[in-house]
Amino acid sequence: MTARIIHLATDEERALQEAADALAEGLPVALPTETVYGLAADATNPTALTRIYETKGRPRFNPLICHVADLAMAREHAVFDPISQLLAEHFWPGPLTLVLPLREGTPIHPLATAGLDTVGMRVPVGFASAVIRRLGRPLAAPSANTSGKVSPTSAQHVDEDLGEKLTLIIDGDAAPVGVESTIVRVEGNTIRLLRPGGISADEIEAVTGMPIVRPEGPATTIEAPGMLVSHYAPGAPVRLNAVDVEPDEALIAFGARDVAGQNKARAVVNLSPAGDLAEAAANLFDYLKKADAVAPRRIAVAPIPEEGLGEAINDRLARAAAPRG
Ligand code: TXA
Ligand code: MG
Repeated sequence: MTARIIHLATDEERALQEAADALAEGLPVALPTETVYGLAADATNPTALTRIYETKGRPRFNPLICHVADLAMAREHAVFDPISQLLAEHFWPGPLTLVLPLREGTPIHPLATAGLDTVGMRVPVGFASAVIRRLGRPLAAPSANTSGKVSPTSAQHVDEDLGEKLTLIIDGDAAPVGVESTIVRVEGNTIRLLRPGGISADEIEAVTGMPIVRPEGPATTIEAPGMLVSHYAPGAPVRLNAVDVEPDEALIAFGARDVAGQNKARAVVNLSPAGDLAEAAANLFDYLKKADAVAPRRIAVAPIPEEGLGEAINDRLARAAAPRG
């Protein structure tokens, strides 16, 4: 099997209809969101959900984010407290996922929520929302990559990794945000950060006037309670906070500062010469793949400031560098 690729800019109506038709048949479809490319399936269809896990080679069932077209559709499936509602009104469509209690009677299948009584929900920007509206059902969509590998930010990334396992990829050009959504859960007067992502903690604090509570120790998700698992892993090992480059390493630089020995690097890419964290996030996964493509002994990554979107970038880099299990 080889996936058909439909380019959005060429024929958006055809892309919309074919994606909705395939999804209605229970087939997973790779499609663009503003964060990363998602492997989408009907969140109410257990066969379709099982196919997501098979296609990704995910070893076990994790709760998946359910994507909806708008706040009204979200309300059909989840119960909103006032702060979650405020966040949804402010940041949707956009890279914020809210963990909310499931509404009784929702057709979202337990395979999408891993049997929890909560659901992770977000409204994506653009095409993905249009598909959901046409299908009329929520879409579960993890990133469209083999489990453990670097997330895709282009249709080409998806095709190289999963093209032979898929029937349809929608090409919406480069994903503008480049890292996955921020996941939060409101509990009473507390906002817990479950995964840093495309919306910074500062922005959420500014809108709610409430401090974000981070898990103790390294960022964790329900997928990885209490530990950093290897994830987003390129083929080569990754060395973080590098202030110099060693022979046969590839360098991922950031900002204008030169890195000692960089002229000896096997390859040098710069996430953002201007030191712009949003630009760095958008380039992160593509440049990890580019650095890996020169088959270096190791990938050295320059320090990234732990502020704004830097928190999400450093979270993904820490997972890319974690011991391989
Ligand atoms: O940007 C994104 O969020 C991308 C694009 C495709 O939209 N999607 C994505 O989805 O990253 P996914 O399904 O891989 O995210 C799953 C993670 C879980 O590992 C868990 O951390 C969190 O979302 N999650 C989902 N449901 C949850 C729940 N009920 N409680 C706590 N965490 C949950
Ligand atoms: Mg992923």
